[in-house]
Amino acid sequence: MRKSFLIALISVGTMLAQDLKPIVLPPPQTDGGRPLMQVLKERKTSREFSGEKLSPQVLSNLLWAAFGINRPEGKRTAPSAMNWQEIDVYAATADGLFIYDAKANRLEPVLAQDVRAATGTQPFVASAPVNLVYVADIAKTGSVGSDAELYTSADAGFIAQNVYLFCASEGLATVVRGSVDRAALAKVMKLRPEQKIVLAQTVGYPKK
Ligand SMILES: Cc1cc2nc3c(=O)[nH]c(=O)nc-3n(C[C@H](O)[C@H](O)[C@H](O)COP(=O)(O)O)c2cc1C
Repeated sequence: MRKSFLIALISVGTMLAQDLKPIVLPPPQTDGGRPLMQVLKERKTSREFSGEKLSPQVLSNLLWAAFGINRPEGKRTAPSAMNWQEIDVYAATADGLFIYDAKANRLEPVLAQDVRAATGTQPFVASAPVNLVYVADIAKTGSVGSDAELYTSADAGFIAQNVYLFCASEGLATVVRGSVDRAALAKVMKLRPEQKIVLAQTVGYPKK
């Protein structure tokens, strides 16, 4: 199927986000995991995923590791330039597109359509259970001029590395991806002009 046709199909989907309920995630399990040095030994990129879904608990743990709140004042598991916390973590699954609300520990519905295929240029994105999309809200960045892009890229990179380490700890497969048709995906995701897609990251169980 041609990509433009696929994106057009996704864009004219009939279900609305209000047809989807927020996914209330179980509290993240923050006391587990394997020793850091072992996890670093095993961190790697994988591009083959089984179709097995992630349970709500694994999803909660994954998102918390990615960019959850780890201190009472609301700071996060990944650093951000000047504590902007400008990266929103979207999750594209078979059920729809969601945005992670770290404070409420919920996935808020954005689109009731399966937009996984639009999150990248590589075939596995369409069937892997979760594609995270890291979107910078430029409105949240300060007056650092042309450095804003540099800082938002770095901030998304820290989140991606947290996901890599979580996946290595949990035996999950992952690949961070810069190869994304950002203009097309922004349209599908109905992003505001000040929202910029930085990176995407696929997560799932390894193919056996
Ligand atoms: C910023 C960035 C963008 C990347 N983009 C892609 C991508 O679009 N597709 C892909 O398959 N891998 C992508 N990768 C993964 C790299 O190819 C991978 O990290 C590299 O080959 C080293 O392998 P390793 O992660 O197993 O050490 C990207 C990695 C980074 C850091």
